[in-house]
Amino acid sequence: MRTLVLKGKEAIKKGAELIALGEVVAFPTETVYGLGADAFNEEAVKKIFAAKGRPSDNPLIVHIADISGLEKLTEEVSEGAKAVMSAFMPGPITVIMKRSKKVPLSVTAGLETVGIRMPSHPVAREFIKACGTPIAAPSANRSTHISPTSAEHVFEDMDGRVPLIIDGGDCEVGIESTIIDMSTGVPTILRPGAITAEMLAKILGAVKTFSGKVVVAKAPGMKYKHYAPSCETVVATDVDSAAQAYDDAAEKGLVPVIIARSSTAAKLGGRTHIDVGDTDADVCRNIYAALHRAEKIAGFIICEHFGEKGVCGSVMNRVMKSAGGKTV
Ligand code: TXA
Ligand code: MG
Repeated sequence: MRTLVLKGKEAIKKGAELIALGEVVAFPTETVYGLGADAFNEEAVKKIFAAKGRPSDNPLIVHIADISGLEKLTEEVSEGAKAVMSAFMPGPITVIMKRSKKVPLSVTAGLETVGIRMPSHPVAREFIKACGTPIAAPSANRSTHISPTSAEHVFEDMDGRVPLIIDGGDCEVGIESTIIDMSTGVPTILRPGAITAEMLAKILGAVKTFSGKVVVAKAPGMKYKHYAPSCETVVATDVDSAAQAYDDAAEKGLVPVIIARSSTAAKLGGRTHIDVGDTDADVCRNIYAALHRAEKIAGFIICEHFGEKGVCGSVMNRVMKSAGGKTV
């Protein structure tokens, strides 16, 4: 299969045509790129799992362009879910609700709930609107690889596997949406993201944060290896340990690289590094591009620990998975 990469109106038109034909189309969102299909077309949904190499017991998020899309997906919207939606949608959040019987079990991986997301990216919204149907979409990477934040990243993983990539430039947020489960008594964050626990607690009073330990796999994806670069990755707790790990790796004949904030990068001497910027939003926006670049130029990745405050806690959730929890 030839993979087209298109921009603008032509891309939206072609994308909507392909979706109507039951095909899979990659599209930009403000978080990461998604791999979309008509959520009500089971054959099309199967193609998403095939293109990603994703296990079928890992459910997909369903994307809508506006609030009218909601009634096709759920019949029960709690007061809490309404509050979260009016505060943060459109935006980088996914709300888990009871599914309507119309939502195929192949989308929800057999669960009685469905993850609903309304992206804020203008291209995503135009695309979903043009499709006229909710779009089921996971991140547009091969299963277990780093999520894509540019059309080039998608092309690297999906060339020959999907007919079209809609190019909407670089993703503004840079990590996947926050997932909040509103289907049970206590609202629970299943995946941290740019909408933080503090922001949600302001709206809901209290939220349970995901502890990292999966007792019952509520976000089934959590049990899979995720966000993994193709070479060994470690997290360095400070500049000195980053420099030490770098020098040790170089001595062993590996090609190391350090991913760091600008202020840390300035203290690394001549060591090869990738600068992810200064602010927390910069770090979030640039982290996946940095990991993509690092695995290309190096054989050993050292990533600075960016701290746990605000969105950095969500960034470190992904980086720790990339590193398999390894800290130096
Ligand atoms: O930002 C995002 O959320 C991106 C863009 C494309 O929208 N999508 C994304 O999808 O990250 P994916 O498939 O890579 O991650 C979705 C996660 C998985 O861990 C999955 O297990 C969980 O959401 N999930 C989906 N539906 C669920 C449900 N009904 N209950 C619990 N977890 C669910
Ligand atoms: Mg993913």
